[in-house]
Amino acid sequence: MKPIRKVVIPVAGWGTRSLPATKNVPKEMLPVFNKPVIQHVVEEARAAGITDVVFVTNRDKSVIEDYFDHNLQLEGILERAGKYELLHTIQRVAEEVNVIAVRQKEQKGLGHAVLCARQIIGDDPFAIMVGDDLIFSGVPGIRQLADVALAENKSVVGVMEVPEENVSRYGIVDGEETAPGVYKVRGLVEKPKKEDAPSRLAIVGRYVLTADIFDYLEKTAPGVGGEIQLTDAMAAMCQDQGMMAVKIAGKRFDAGNWPEFLSANIYFGLQDESVRYQLIDELKQFLQLN
Ligand code: UTP
Repeated sequence: MKPIRKVVIPVAGWGTRSLPATKNVPKEMLPVFNKPVIQHVVEEARAAGITDVVFVTNRDKSVIEDYFDHNLQLEGILERAGKYELLHTIQRVAEEVNVIAVRQKEQKGLGHAVLCARQIIGDDPFAIMVGDDLIFSGVPGIRQLADVALAENKSVVGVMEVPEENVSRYGIVDGEETAPGVYKVRGLVEKPKKEDAPSRLAIVGRYVLTADIFDYLEKTAPGVGGEIQLTDAMAAMCQDQGMMAVKIAGKRFDAGNWPEFLSANIYFGLQDESVRYQLIDELKQFLQLN
């Protein structure tokens, strides 16, 4: 398999779980500490050697593409004010990756969103990173998948273990562990009932797939929630070609879930010396700890 250089990041969903905050601002632009959610995701891709980012957007989300472009007026103001550190910070955002945007004109699900990127991806294997799933780890989450995809010459899906009561919120993998944290996938099922789930290995928004997935997506009928499910297309592809799963080592936050979004902010705040101590004091007061 060739090295992975392109990633599809679907960001066209409505973000209904995060309303009213997401009425006019995409949930991917909500800040986690001092950067929007989407910048954390793009930085993970960049750290894994990915250079081309394909956003699948909708008509209200062009602010995401704009964010990864230069803002010449602001850059001029910062330069004239001698604020070079800030200037370089915002310039780096614009220079980090090549950005391509494609519209999903109707929100027909994650699988359909990925299919919208078919012409841009072409025939090479590629990554998919869900735009509201944050994963922080020493080795970037998507890199952990790409390494196994290259070694095994197979598509790979990223998983993490979730509590039994949460399996019905995820795509779940049935697999046989072939090396620590690496599984040969026997099957995948989208949002199973707790009693039907084959395991607690939940798909967490990171994939490395061959371009064959597009043929399977074309043939996939709407599934759970009337949406075209990426998991259903992968299940069919897995039967024909096999697939691996990698248990991602790292910390994950679903930015579309308020407790996890708020935890992500605290997690990052605590790592920054300039806010860490005040934040700890405030948290102690809230929790009435001494
Ligand atoms: P989610 O279900 O988490 O996102 O989809 P959502 O639909 O935006 O949010 P809620 O559930 O209404 O709060 C996972 C990812 O797939 C994208 C979303 O943008 C999100 O990044 N997605 C989902 C699309 O791009 N298109 C779709 O039709 C559906």
